[in-house]
Amino acid sequence: MSVSLVVARSLNDVIGNGPHIPWRVKGEQKLFRDITMGGILVMGRKTYESIGKPLPGRDTIIVTRNDQFSAAGCSTAGSLTDALAQVGNDPRPVFIVGGGEIYRQALAQQLADSVHLTTIQAEAEGDVYFPAFPTPEFVLQDEQLHNSNINYLYQHFIRIRTD
Ligand SMILES: NC(=O)c1ccc[n+]([C@@H]2O[C@H](COP(=O)([O-])OP(=O)(O)OC[C@H]3O[C@@H](n4cnc5c(N)ncnc54)[C@H](OP(=O)(O)O)[C@@H]3O)[C@@H](O)[C@H]2O)c1
Repeated sequence: MSVSLVVARSLNDVIGNGPHIPWRVKGEQKLFRDITMGGILVMGRKTYESIGKPLPGRDTIIVTRNDQFSAAGCSTAGSLTDALAQVGNDPRPVFIVGGGEIYRQALAQQLADSVHLTTIQAEAEGDVYFPAFPTPEFVLQDEQLHNSNINYLYQHFIRIRTD
């Protein structure tokens, strides 16, 4: 199973402000779409509610502790590991797409083989943060600087397996 984390952060590690992403950067959403299209998205319940609907062309698994929660067109899981167990032998790539709580747990549990990291080249105000990254087990595979209304740096990191 291929499991990647996909995140956009600001220079000061902000990823969200309340339920919102505190920037509009032309091209950055298309990059997210291109990376994740055809795959399986795993996201926290708060991130799902801020998007409000399943994203086309991708399956969505929502992680929640509330076993009454349901959302049309999505499945739910009681933890990140439950979500990955649900994927089972499905050959499609899995993308862990936030938010803050889910990223923290995915990194702490070493669930992702790779990280697609976009760093918006500005500071942002917010109250949801991405942990300090990269940590030493991740090596840079590829990077591209994109010019836009706010420039953004896309980097792809691969985890060196230590197990
Ligand atoms: N910049 C980016 O790339 C990016 C990407 C995604 C999201 N975001 C932003 O991130 C923010 C949301 O992040 P957040 O940290 O507040 O929330 P979140 O991670 O999206 O969701 C948190 C919820 O996930 C569920 N959950 C977390 N850990 C769990 C576990 N171990 N087992 C079962 N359920 C678990 C709980 O749902 P229940 O309360 O239902 O139990 C919890 O309340 C928003 O601002 C959003 O816009 C940014």
